[in-house]
Amino acid sequence: MLRTISLCALLLLATSAGAQPKAEAVTSKGGVVVCVSPPAAEVGLAILKKGGNAADAAVATAFALAVTWPEAGNIGGGGFMMIAAPGKAPTCIEYRETAPAAAKENLFADGKVTWLDHKAAGVPGTVRGLALAHKRFGKLPWKDVVLPAVELAEQGFTVNAVLAAGLNKVLSDPKTTNAEFKRVYSKPDGLKWIAGDKLVLKDLGRTLRLVAENGADAFYTGELADLLAKEMKEHGGLITKADLEAYKAHERKPVHTTFRGFDVYGPPPPSSGGIALVEMLNILETFDLKKLGRDSVETHALVIESMKRAYADRARHLGDPDFTKVPAELTTKEYAKKLAAGVDPAKPTPSAKLAPDIELTAESDSTTHFSVIDKDGLAVSNTYTLENSYGNRVVVRGAGYLLNNEMTDFNPKPGVTNTMGQIGTKPNLVAPGKRMLSSMTPVIVLKDGKPVLITGSPGGRTIINTVLCVVLNVCEFEMSTADAVTAPRFHHQWMPDAVRIESFGAKQVHLNEALTKHGYKVTLGKQGDAHTIGIDPKTGTRTGIADKRLDGKAVGE
Ligand code: DON
Repeated sequence: MLRTISLCALLLLATSAGAQPKAEAVTSKGGVVVCVSPPAAEVGLAILKKGGNAADAAVATAFALAVTWPEAGNIGGGGFMMIAAPGKAPTCIEYRETAPAAAKENLFADGKVTWLDHKAAGVPGTVRGLALAHKRFGKLPWKDVVLPAVELAEQGFTVNAVLAAGLNKVLSDPKTTNAEFKRVYSKPDGLKWIAGDKLVLKDLGRTLRLVAENGADAFYTGELADLLAKEMKEHGGLITKADLEAYKAHERKPVHTTFRGFDVYGPPPPSSGGIALVEMLNILETFDLKKLGRDSVETHALVIESMKRAYADRARHLGDPDFTKVPAELTTKEYAKKLAAGVDPAKPTPSAKLAPDIELTAESDSTTHFSVIDKDGLAVSNTYTLENSYGNRVVVRGAGYLLNNEMTDFNPKPGVTNTMGQIGTKPNLVAPGKRMLSSMTPVIVLKDGKPVLITGSPGGRTIINTVLCVVLNVCEFEMSTADAVTAPRFHHQWMPDAVRIESFGAKQVHLNEALTKHGYKVTLGKQGDAHTIGIDPKTGTRTGIADKRLDGKAVGE
């Protein structure tokens, strides 16, 4: 029951954001896996075909991505996995990195520690998180779901054009100085990577094999922990064996709201994604966007105004819930009504007026999201990251995996908020053992208790708004999953006070003009890579959509 369609992209005017992405779709009555990297999607599908469930497939896909999508797939980073078992409310496996015990509040204050520094790495959470997801929901033996990644790393896999371009770019960047990174990821003959080349990652294969054979403890204790501790010691990093041993992944209760008869579930703090998404949906529920029309300037203005308010609250209140109290009010309908009452549909509220004391820093652009559903309806929505593409561009010598630079998600300078867009609010300052605030927003939407949408995206702070656009497209504007994913997106993060729109053609040029006339400062840019599954509530047919703004493959049983 498998059908692959190439969706026809509209041929529109060329703009700075480039051509409209050509999403790729698969439909199936059985299991579906959608992710950025074709060989990793195939691993997930093979696990489903072997009798694994969506949790097994998700764990296997995540490990495979650590091999085949080094930009963001990882075992050296962290993330959030939402899982919805049939008949049960979704849960969240939270495996965000933590600050090492030696990390101080002023770590980044003098500007000397950069994102490329060993000190920028948080204690990795991915292996513990995947192990917890597998323990709670998996069916196949752990070894079976890790071994496909081992094979990809040890035997090598075929590099495609997107990966080749990414590797060539990072390797030719003078900022890439880590010798082990260059040794591991350079083409053996010293030439540029091209599609069709084979990438073999021996050390990573060995590390994954240890994890496959001995479980997550192999990563956090023993020989592999020694290698990371040594790497840190030799390069002035902070992570110790004790930090590794102390790391725990958590199962947390997702953030939830209802919207037009749907139940929307997103990740709780330390991600800001669920709360901000719910706050925006609650505000928007008070307006009739459908009547105003999806493409109208009025609808865009209302959505932008809700974005600004939610992102102001994000900066003001959100951080690791084990360190900072997150007001429960933020996700209530009453609070949203109050915020909605302050929205003037005719003109933008200046961001500075919404919270004059705080501003936001810029963020980078690499994370990855994948979605999985199995034949029985178990749904998994996972977003994980190294923060920047290839993290801090450090490969742990001897262990072969990339390190994250997630510590840069903390507010860098305590108390310092400035017009350059930096924030120094307390909830997200560095502290030993604290999780840095994330924007990752893997989401599962249910209708009458059954999953109808599994989505998420990379994109730093744009993630939450990418997910908002997809959810609105499906739940408010009743678009097909394919159209919901390909439709141009937009982003406002409160500060800077500007809206960024994806601009693929004539309609968008008009929108740019109309929003500018309405009083917004408009910039252009590409947004997200939302590998999504839609499930028809009537027929149960699943449609997997590979976004293709970056790359991707949707596969089904
Ligand atoms: O957790 C976060 O929100 C960021 N570290 C995510 C970084 C990101 O999405 C970069 N790329 N696309």
